[in-house]
Amino acid sequence: MGQNRIRIDLLIHDLKVPLAVIEAGITSLLDRAEKYGPLTEKQEKVLKRALRNTKVTQNLVTDALELGRSEKGIMNLSSVRLSSCLGEALIELFDLNNSVVSEKIKACRSLNRLKETLQAEGLIIEIDDGLWSEQLTLDEGKIKQILRNLLSNALKFRKREVALRAYKEEGSLLVCIKDDGEGIPAKYHKKVFDCYFQMEPTDTCPVRGHGLGLAGVMVLLEDMGGEMILSSDEGRGAEFIVKIPLSGA
Ligand SMILES: Nc1ncnc2c1ncn2[C@@H]1O[C@H](COP(=O)(O)OP(=O)(O)OP(=O)(O)O)[C@@H](O)[C@H]1O
Ligand SMILES: [Mg+2]
Repeated sequence: MGQNRIRIDLLIHDLKVPLAVIEAGITSLLDRAEKYGPLTEKQEKVLKRALRNTKVTQNLVTDALELGRSEKGIMNLSSVRLSSCLGEALIELFDLNNSVVSEKIKACRSLNRLKETLQAEGLIIEIDDGLWSEQLTLDEGKIKQILRNLLSNALKFRKREVALRAYKEEGSLLVCIKDDGEGIPAKYHKKVFDCYFQMEPTDTCPVRGHGLGLAGVMVLLEDMGGEMILSSDEGRGAEFIVKIPLSGA
């Protein structure tokens, strides 16, 4: 193992302690009203959101350490519904920049309600009821990470709308995420998957990330034996099509 890899793994490892302290602190405030005093409804909401995101970060730390342990990456398969994978990925995503929407998503009790709520945010969901509630054998953590990254890009680079379509085809789950932004010129179709590569920021999209999301998604897909196709042209939006083999199919 290279020195740099050890340095990074140690940094990730050392995040565990402060995260555990944050988790314990928030849990005490939520569960021990007799000691810390009662909470208003709004305070409880904020603390629950903070706790949810602390747990997401803790899971990411565990995933990162487990990934480092195995060269090829490891799979953590379980039986999950697309409704819970996508629902949770959306809540985590909106928790970051629009907590009002994430609360609305949490309150949705049906696919139709969720579709309406998201449509108001310019996110169109095309999934049929059957697939929405079907039990699929998948690595939930990896799927959520993929969805979060692709959706966060699409929402960041869109002009108005993003469409997410999911369907099953020949034993695989296909998820297509399409936006109506500036698109990606053909000369960058390979490069956007390189670590730290970013196209020049435009006036319409000056937001800077780290150029790591797509490279990470590729690694996760490789672990699952999946693939990703990019279909885009300058000025014509971008569509990322992800194909994930379903175990047991
Ligand atoms: N939907 C999209 N439309 C237009 N350009 C995109 C889209 N998705 C990715 N890109 C281009 O590919 C680059 C790399 O994307 P990637 O997700 O790896 O990094 P990022 O979003 O810039 O940062 P990070 O994901 O690390 O926060 C982006 O900076 C952008 O230039
Ligand atoms: Mg990104």
